[in-house]
Amino acid sequence: MCGIVGYVSKDKRSLDVLIEGLKTLEYRGYDSAGVAYLNNNELEIKKEKGKIDDLLKILDTTIKSNIGIGHTRWATHGKPNSINSHPHKNGKIILVHNGIIENYMELKEMLLNKGYNFVSETDTEVAAALLDYLYNSSNDYNTLYAIRKDSPLIIAKGDNINFIASDVPAILKYTNKYMLLEPNEIAILSDDIKIIDDNKNVINKEIITFEGKMESAMKNGYDHFMIKEIHEEPEVIKNATAAYNNVDELISKMPDFKKYDNIDIVACGSAYHTGLVAKNLIEEYAGIRVNTEVASEYRYKTQFHNENTLVIVVSQSGETADTLACLRKVKENNIDTLAIVNVVGSSIAREAKDVLYIKAGPEIAVATTKAYLAQLALLGLIALNMAYTNGKMSKEEANKVLDDLKELPKKIENLIGNPLYKKIADTLYTHNDIFFIGRNVDYALSMEGSLKLKEISYIHSEAYAAGELKHGTISLIDEDTPVIGIVTEEKIEEKTISNIKEVKARRANVILITTDALDKEGDYYDNKIVIPTTNKFLQPTLTIVPLQIISYEVAKLRGCDIDKPKNLAKSVTVE
Ligand code: M6R
Repeated sequence: MCGIVGYVSKDKRSLDVLIEGLKTLEYRGYDSAGVAYLNNNELEIKKEKGKIDDLLKILDTTIKSNIGIGHTRWATHGKPNSINSHPHKNGKIILVHNGIIENYMELKEMLLNKGYNFVSETDTEVAAALLDYLYNSSNDYNTLYAIRKDSPLIIAKGDNINFIASDVPAILKYTNKYMLLEPNEIAILSDDIKIIDDNKNVINKEIITFEGKMESAMKNGYDHFMIKEIHEEPEVIKNATAAYNNVDELISKMPDFKKYDNIDIVACGSAYHTGLVAKNLIEEYAGIRVNTEVASEYRYKTQFHNENTLVIVVSQSGETADTLACLRKVKENNIDTLAIVNVVGSSIAREAKDVLYIKAGPEIAVATTKAYLAQLALLGLIALNMAYTNGKMSKEEANKVLDDLKELPKKIENLIGNPLYKKIADTLYTHNDIFFIGRNVDYALSMEGSLKLKEISYIHSEAYAAGELKHGTISLIDEDTPVIGIVTEEKIEEKTISNIKEVKARRANVILITTDALDKEGDYYDNKIVIPTTNKFLQPTLTIVPLQIISYEVAKLRGCDIDKPKNLAKSVTVE
């Protein structure tokens, strides 16, 4: 995710227009920032690694220009350094870009053969060269062109100034009226604004008026970042898995796992819970033993490593102190490490032997949702890779799993739109204790559902292995203790349902989460969420969505500070 702002004005404006706009978009990424503008009819580009304040050290904002573009970057292709920062210029074209150009390597090769040179590692510079190659436009730099493909882009008209921006806050100082560019629409900005479709037909766009405050604008109209980030999950799953379209790509773009027969997964909080899901998948489908541990425990325990051990560390921020300490300790013993990280260039990403990025974009809400889902997806694909390389699956079977990826965004979108969550939250929010139960993967997901709920709603909650309740804890179950039962695996379906019946017999209010493949009528639940079925490697990315939204709705009903729960921080850099 990156932030884009650009303007064309009749009179010359100081570069503050760009800087103020970029500052409101910094939540979208802050690996680097850059601007391009005309100064005395000469094109200038200034860009710097780090935050906008770092850019300001090399930029004279009193310069006035009647056209400019700016960018704040969340690195995907290439390190976060000043060369890889946007804007990029190749030929006559100067470009800022938000998103991923999946076929950029093929395009780059073609353009190298046509004589183009590249200075950065980015896909964006390739796009600039491609545009230069395809369009023989003049280089008078009076016009700003914008095209949308997936990532959001708005167009706005102020007083003698026209804007493009990734998000509404960037233009609010000048106007609260804007148009939403749809995928494949093109905006041409000079003194006027013209919007055309990909057949060059002019489109009359609806003007939207933003009535809210700046803070709510950054949330794209959602009440909280948490729910905004949940709504980003369909796009996040696409980004996280875009590199793996078939088994050959899965093998070539991940480390070689063949030699490992002993895997440790180390992480904290929600990231630890993804490790528990992965343990179940890797052990069952690849036949490799996995030990998943909380980092703050692992670092002080005896380890049983050998030369065939791989330690996988999972961290959204890449800065969590305990996880980082484990990574460093493991490296001292020359054990191979793989980091699954969101923040590009973070300490864990830099220090691990190998890194795979989840590409979830900046996550603002303290309670992780979209990053957790992206971690689940990537770990699911690692399990698939191991199952295939260990000869437990045919190429055809593995390719089928990857084909299912294409349907996931739509399935997640439909799940997010289910109207039942509010109704269920209504039955939960006044209670003091809520239990989550499931077996195997569903137990690991129960742990995350329970953490999410207690983290943001402050309701006491526990996750239990469904079969373990009767060894003591069932004494806590009565009509005041709702139980959320998760049943997504056929092989343990009957067993978990019989545990659910046990709590129902103790008068618990039961909410059942199950798949459409296992859905059946019964008198052992009060409410039921039916989720779509997909293959075993990816099913957790669907199962978790209702749990996240139910927690959100409960916390909302309780009037909690959802994005910044008490006593917590987004990145825990202390031991
Ligand atoms: O940045 P990390 O993924 O390493 O953070 C680990 C935990 O602190 C984090 O997952 C925490 O549990 C979340 N706030 C839970 O929503």
